[in-house]
Amino acid sequence: MAGWRKLVFFATNILGLSCLQLQDLGGQWSLTEATGKYNNLNATVPGGIYTDLMQNKIIGDIFYGNNDTETRWVAETNWTYKYQFAVDDSILNHSTVNIVFEGLDTFATILVNDVEIGTSQNMFVRYIFDVKDVLKLGNNNIEVRFASPIITAKELSSKQGYDVPPVCPQDVQNGECHVNQIRKMQASFSWDWGPAFPSMGIWKEVYLEAFDSSVIRYLLVDYDETSDDSWMITISAYLSATKGKTLEGKLRYTLETDVSSIEQIVEVNEPSNDNDEIKIDYSFTVPKITVRNWWPNGYGEAKLYALSAQFQSGSEVSSKNIKIGFRKIEIVQEPIASGLSFYFKVNDVPIFAKGANEIPIDILPEKGQNPETIAKILESAHAANMNMLRVWGGGVYESDYFYQKTDELGILVWQDFMFACAMYPTYPEFLNNVRVEIRHQIKRLHSHPSIALWAGNNENEIALMTDWYNTKKNLTLFKNDYLKLYIDTVRSELLNITNNVLFLSSSPSNGEESEEEHYLAKNPGDPLFGDVHFYNYLVNSLVSTTYPIPRFASEYGYQSLPDADTWLTVTDDVDNLDPGSVFMYHRQHHVLGFAENSLLIGYQLNLNKSIPDYYKTYIFYSQIVQALSIKFETEYYRSFMGRVDSEGRGNTMGALFWQLNDVWVAPTWSGIDYTGKWKMLQYYAIEFFAPTIITGYLDVSRQFAVYAMSEIVSLVGVSLDVSAVVEVYSWSSFERVGFSEYNVTLEYGKSVEVNVIDTDNYLQSLGCGSLSEARTNCFFYLTLLSGNAVIAPHNLIMATSLKQSNLTKTTVEIVSIRQVDTQAKKFEISIQADGVSLFVWLDSHQIRGRFSENGFAQIGPTKNVSFQAEEATSVAELETVLTIVHLNNAEYQ
Ligand SMILES: *[C@@H]1O[C@H](CO)[C@@H](O)[C@H](O)[C@H]1NC(C)=O
Ligand SMILES: *[C@@H]1O[C@H](CO)[C@@H](O)[C@H](O)[C@H]1NC(C)=O
Ligand SMILES: *[C@@H]1O[C@H](CO)[C@@H](O)[C@H](O)[C@H]1NC(C)=O
Ligand SMILES: *[C@@H]1O[C@H](CO)[C@@H](O)[C@H](O)[C@H]1NC(C)=O
Ligand SMILES: *[C@@H]1O[C@H](CO)[C@@H](O)[C@H](O)[C@H]1NC(C)=O
Ligand SMILES: *[C@@H]1O[C@H](CO)[C@@H](O)[C@H](O)[C@H]1NC(C)=O
Ligand SMILES: *[C@@H]1O[C@H](CO)[C@@H](O)[C@H](O)[C@H]1NC(C)=O
Ligand SMILES: *[C@@H]1O[C@H](CO)[C@@H](O)[C@H](O)[C@H]1NC(C)=O
Ligand SMILES: *[C@@H]1O[C@H](CO)[C@@H](O)[C@H](O)[C@H]1NC(C)=O
Repeated sequence: MAGWRKLVFFATNILGLSCLQLQDLGGQWSLTEATGKYNNLNATVPGGIYTDLMQNKIIGDIFYGNNDTETRWVAETNWTYKYQFAVDDSILNHSTVNIVFEGLDTFATILVNDVEIGTSQNMFVRYIFDVKDVLKLGNNNIEVRFASPIITAKELSSKQGYDVPPVCPQDVQNGECHVNQIRKMQASFSWDWGPAFPSMGIWKEVYLEAFDSSVIRYLLVDYDETSDDSWMITISAYLSATKGKTLEGKLRYTLETDVSSIEQIVEVNEPSNDNDEIKIDYSFTVPKITVRNWWPNGYGEAKLYALSAQFQSGSEVSSKNIKIGFRKIEIVQEPIASGLSFYFKVNDVPIFAKGANEIPIDILPEKGQNPETIAKILESAHAANMNMLRVWGGGVYESDYFYQKTDELGILVWQDFMFACAMYPTYPEFLNNVRVEIRHQIKRLHSHPSIALWAGNNENEIALMTDWYNTKKNLTLFKNDYLKLYIDTVRSELLNITNNVLFLSSSPSNGEESEEEHYLAKNPGDPLFGDVHFYNYLVNSLVSTTYPIPRFASEYGYQSLPDADTWLTVTDDVDNLDPGSVFMYHRQHHVLGFAENSLLIGYQLNLNKSIPDYYKTYIFYSQIVQALSIKFETEYYRSFMGRVDSEGRGNTMGALFWQLNDVWVAPTWSGIDYTGKWKMLQYYAIEFFAPTIITGYLDVSRQFAVYAMSEIVSLVGVSLDVSAVVEVYSWSSFERVGFSEYNVTLEYGKSVEVNVIDTDNYLQSLGCGSLSEARTNCFFYLTLLSGNAVIAPHNLIMATSLKQSNLTKTTVEIVSIRQVDTQAKKFEISIQADGVSLFVWLDSHQIRGRFSENGFAQIGPTKNVSFQAEEATSVAELETVLTIVHLNNAEYQ
């Protein structure tokens, strides 16, 4: 844990100036169970109760077996963290001495030298307590007494005077009740993809700060285009000043542009006030030719510029360094056909938002701070051509490092406020608690160029308006509560801090139409407005009529199982991997989850429980069907870019699937499993999110409509003549049986219909078989060419379901592995097949790394795939571990 701490401690003297004094209080603390059952255990701060108890071997690996429920007593217990530390006069001589907790999870009473200095009740707030009068020279002690979040939530549940539903999660989740009563990660009491670990602890840094004048708490930067040739930068510096003293000094800003360093000095002279913070606003212009725009992934460089602020008062200096990006962002909601459009425009370019929903980096909040884990997940998103992630409202406002990475990688963030799938209390203390949270999080995060949008909550408008939680009988009551919380509290706090921000009251919502309907639309899932969330696990997922045609799909998904290696990190018994096992049902938190998964698989493939190692087939099939379904659905949404149907549906401009990552090993909707390994879905995302694609789908009358579309930014305002090639192959040979080429003109952001093919007649005419059998013997293979260059991923489209396809049994083998770099991390793998082979899946098992593609179709005898290992390895080692499977071999049929 200590390896990734990043508090910066300033040297005391730079050019004769004394800096703000900081003293880290992190490190080894002691931990005591409140009734004395466990005493003076070693604990790590920052950290958390589960991590500490695992380290002390009081509990085993919480992720193993059923240990989530077996260790629940931990969260029903009060725990006290204690620490002794020495303080000298370099701290104590200052006018102000504070203790700063960057994060307390959640209910704590804090004592310094046995004097209570304060309490905490919100995990998302930074707590700062004045300790000037309680600290003494030499040894001091601090105690942080945590109260059980489960018991506290229950106690608080009587405060509203009526039940605030849902009171408890569904039984299948093995969760805890009343999480909506507390300002803590909502998923820590369980979710349908996650376990309940109601954590406690000092989950972020804790330190002493000492100063005579002030400290810069936040820098809030807004940028506006003032004219064609300048940006206007407005910086609000929030300073905490010593109470009762005039705040006097120089605030110096330095911005590094492409050509020079711009320095601005603001003279500050503010009379003392009782506010915790003094806000200093200052604006200056930056010529546009001196900076470049910040662009999302795929549109250009995510260019960042260093901005530093230094406040000097007498000889004391407080500084803050951030990076900013110059970008303009809008949501365009204009009348089209029927309804309103809904899309993001960045630097005047309409952007199709492509990506996924992020759930917390880890179920234990302290582990969610690990930069390696964060970087790996976000780099995976970037590598799969994603340009937007939604940070979902049941998790946490992620770490500073998370948003620094999204800034660097050009990944826009749709940021929810942390309210999800519930009604919430609105008694005054609750709302005040929320106010503090909103102010802190907005000031902390607003300056990140990657944050595109703030949304009030996850699904609470639609839950209320379509009666998920039996609120209908008291609708007015809950409607008023809704407006009090998200409009009068969250929205007004946000807009009071900055107007330069995009806000939606909920996700999904109808955007401006929801506002028209006073934030509570009759049908918040209306496809003609705003965003939609869409799930249906009962019908065939490879049929276009299954899906809505929305303006923006901000959630959609299907479950799959992580692979066997990943499962074996949480059980030693292979029998547990059978999808019908008690172990599996413990991990499956979605009611009817396996029944739905099997049904969905059943549309495509035959499951036979009697085959040996059935679990392997089930896992493989679940990943195939998940990848195929999300590919189909995403490409269908993309095919409505710049196009509406006869009912005015379409102009779709966003596809964020559910879900990017995992917080434990379980059947979930993720593309990346808890060990960081990519499922087939994540590999497929590279292609279905590629900037240019060619795709197609069959309608009920078996017409095959082919579409091509591009979001290559160099196409804005111009057009490109390309040729779309539709080839037909039979499953039984590498020789193609049909070929047609169509000239089409691509324009930025407009899906063009290439052609509509009368499938069965066409395939019959090519000799694929009789009118009814032709579809089972042949498939389409789409290619998009500009001149001779292939400009989109090839796309294999089946003419019928997989199980009806007359696949041939084939053999697929790795024929060579070659090292292609000098660090022994990059390898080229050559694969040979004796017939058309589907879902060829390579696995490097314990050698962690990523393939250039995986789960692919091999429609020629040889195929080369590259492998990027995380650590240096060798051809010999890879040869030993590398396995290859595919759909057509006996094992999987
Ligand atoms: C606690 O840590 C100290 C020093 O770091 C070590 O000497 C001691 O053995 C540890 N105690 C336990 C129970 O691990
Ligand atoms: C949890 O898992 C471990 C295996 O890592 C086991 O030894 C332990 O007894 C389990 N139970 C609890 C309550 O920790
Ligand atoms: C703190 O103040 C005392 C008394 O004024 C003084 O003797 C001492 O040198 C000061 N210490 C520091 C580190 O400034
Ligand atoms: C746990 O802490 C809460 C809040 O301080 C207190 O009301 C409760 O009595 C404590 N329970 C135990 C068992 O110490
Ligand atoms: C509606 O809420 C009011 C206020 O708490 C309560 O008195 C009443 O019983 C509730 N009605 C229903 C049907 O739940
Ligand atoms: C808005 O924020 C300012 C501080 O910037 C504060 O003084 C004022 O009371 C706030 N207004 C509302 C309505 O919260
Ligand atoms: C299922 O698998 C078993 C064992 O391999 C085999 O005997 C049986 O015929 C299969 N059933 C079907 C319907 O394919
Ligand atoms: C299935 O394909 C084989 C060739 O692999 C062919 O001989 C057979 O006729 C096909 N079956 C049908 C029903 O078309
Ligand atoms: C497509 O365009 C090329 C040159 O632009 C032309 O030679 C070719 O005949 C066209 N093909 C079709 C099918 O129209």
